[in-house]
Amino acid sequence: MSEGRSPLLDRLQAIEEEGLAALREATDLDDLEAERVRYLGRSGAVADILGRIGSIPAEERRPVGQRGNAVKRLLEGAYEARAGELRREERARAVDDEDLTLPGRRAWPGGSHPVTVIIDEICDIFAELGFTRVTGPEVETEWYNFTALNIPLDHPAADVHDTFYVEDGVVLRTHTSPVQARTMQAYQPPVRVVVPGTCYRRESIDASHAAVFDQIEGLAVDEGVDFVEFRAAIEYFVHRFFGPDTATRFRPDFFPFTEPSAQVEVSCTICGGGGCPTCKGTGWIEIMGSGMVDPAVFEAVGYDPERYTGYAFGMGPGRMALLRHRIPDLRLLHEGDVRFLRQFAGA
Ligand code: DAH
Repeated sequence: MSEGRSPLLDRLQAIEEEGLAALREATDLDDLEAERVRYLGRSGAVADILGRIGSIPAEERRPVGQRGNAVKRLLEGAYEARAGELRREERARAVDDEDLTLPGRRAWPGGSHPVTVIIDEICDIFAELGFTRVTGPEVETEWYNFTALNIPLDHPAADVHDTFYVEDGVVLRTHTSPVQARTMQAYQPPVRVVVPGTCYRRESIDASHAAVFDQIEGLAVDEGVDFVEFRAAIEYFVHRFFGPDTATRFRPDFFPFTEPSAQVEVSCTICGGGGCPTCKGTGWIEIMGSGMVDPAVFEAVGYDPERYTGYAFGMGPGRMALLRHRIPDLRLLHEGDVRFLRQFAGA
């Protein structure tokens, strides 16, 4: 051993070699931790040497201190490298233990509300007959909601349209019929439109009534449109929507904006016409109000009632959804319970 060379340097050399080997060969994280404590811990091998610096000859201190710190950094590097390896191996083993054959949880991307699906279907059927789908405002003036449609505000017909006033003369529309007037003001005949949309009434809510509900209005106006064409169009729709075996009948009714007016009924979709609770034993179910457009409506919008005739109808797609899916209560459609609704959800 040459003069001035500290024996601690040899000791550090040995610590470096043994420590590197021990850390690199540690078989698991516990083992690695034990080796770390042994070499790098507060009273480990390196700290032991550095702790002795105060008691060695002054000229040896610097080389021993430098060497000691270098060994410490080397061992720390080896420790980090091995720890990384062991952690990766442990994660891989955990994945191996998992049962990857378990089916995944299927994501539900959402779907259209059953009433929306029905609205689209109805509008598509009328599109086959040349009807264009249009919409109109839900906040409507009294003039469009009532007056243009020949409903005087003091007429009993206005009573069933009891609604919410937004301000004087402005209401939440009680039906989609006002869009008839808006369409005729905007376009000259021939006009064939279907108008889906939300309506509002002050209504006691029960199994077949809601205060917020949807309607689909229909309007066809041209020269020479007669009751035969009207019937044919409605029957075409009924066959397409309910099936070719469904019968249609027209019964007299009253609406201020049609003359004559008719209630359209179809043979009961549940019992086929024999009589059941759904059709209240009659074998028939009402599906819409309708009629030939009253000349007073043409006059209100500036159409020549001598030249043009037309028919109009209004139906509730919510009710159509009940009939289609045999749902007993309208409220089920509007409670927003996805477990219920998803049974009927469209794409
Ligand atoms: N607007 C009527 C209602 O809400 C439904 C209706 C009946 C519309 C006859 C029409 C019609 O276009 O001709 O009760």
